Amino acid sequence: MVRGKQAEVLSTETPQVFALAVGRAAELLRAGEVVALPTETVYGLAANALDPQAVKKIFRLKGRPGHNPIIVHVASLEMAQRCVRTWPLAAARLAEAFWPGPLTLVLPKASAMPSIVTAGGDTVGIRWSRHPFMQAVLRECDFPLAAPSANRSSQLSPTNADHVVRSLGDQLELIVDGGQAQVGIESTVLDLCVWPPRILRPGMIPAVAIASVMDTLPASEGQALDPPPPAGGTLRSPGLLERHYSPHARLVVWRWTNDPELRSAARTLDVPLDAVHVVAHTVIPLVEGFGGVSVIPHDAEAFARALYQELHRCDEASARVIVVEAVPETAEWQAVADRLRRAAVP
Ligand code: TXA
Ligand code: MG
Repeated sequence: MVRGKQAEVLSTETPQVFALAVGRAAELLRAGEVVALPTETVYGLAANALDPQAVKKIFRLKGRPGHNPIIVHVASLEMAQRCVRTWPLAAARLAEAFWPGPLTLVLPKASAMPSIVTAGGDTVGIRWSRHPFMQAVLRECDFPLAAPSANRSSQLSPTNADHVVRSLGDQLELIVDGGQAQVGIESTVLDLCVWPPRILRPGMIPAVAIASVMDTLPASEGQALDPPPPAGGTLRSPGLLERHYSPHARLVVWRWTNDPELRSAARTLDVPLDAVHVVAHTVIPLVEGFGGVSVIPHDAEAFARALYQELHRCDEASARVIVVEAVPETAEWQAVADRLRRAAVP
């Protein structure tokens, strides 16, 4: 699998290079290759969803277990409807309200959708991304793109092209640089095959916003962690597996009221203080002695946008423990709290 050669990284900064990158990505995708593409949530590892051999390469590259289905990306309602067997009114209303955007709808799959994409299941997750590059490639290809996050299985999702270069750069032919991901954490995954609909993975489109267009509050699995996979069966949503979205360093989530309190807690960790990196938003400690202190604004959207980038940075700086300041327990912070909780599972 190792190509031993670094991927080509194409910029999208001007209309000219954007068009060149669209052409190159579409050419590789048509040839059944896997390419890393930007989306507004996190970078994706894309392949032609209708080509089982191409999708198989995604599983190999990620080291992804075969029981974990892949989200299919589209760039029009017509393309979305080609991927599914039914298009309920709820899907139409949600698509109208939130697409393009960070919402994945799980629906009964069309027979044309290969079972490798859906991990053998009868449902498929569909998303229309807001990122202009993803949309342009989809229009150019005119086939849907299976694209999970562009990281090794269970690790941290990439939010810029550099993150992809560092983790999969020697295994891909092309990485398209579409800038820093604007949402920063993965899409909300909503199961429309059950009633009431169920949030399988919280994201920046919250339950209340979904409820406001559906006249019913979705059930949430945000708190309950999934049981282990049934023998030979499919997980309801493997994104709910406990350990996920994890940096290499150990991550702990703490609340502190002042600098000395944090420092004395940090001294009880079994690593030197300079191997401890702190990510704070409200009670900001002095950097002195710590390996690093980064500050993210106390705002759920800004926090989501910056979180993975900060965790990647801590990993690059060889942090052994990352201490993240606990976030509020309110609805708007739910998706961020969910990712922190999973990243903190030892
Ligand atoms: O924001 C995102 O959703 C990003 C970007 C690249 O679009 N993609 C992403 O894909 O996070 P991935 O594969 O890393 O996570 C997809 C999640 C997994 O937890 C998977 O189990 C769940 O969505 N999923 C996908 N298809 C499903 C299905 N048919 N039924 C239930 N869960 C599904
Ligand atoms: Mg992922």
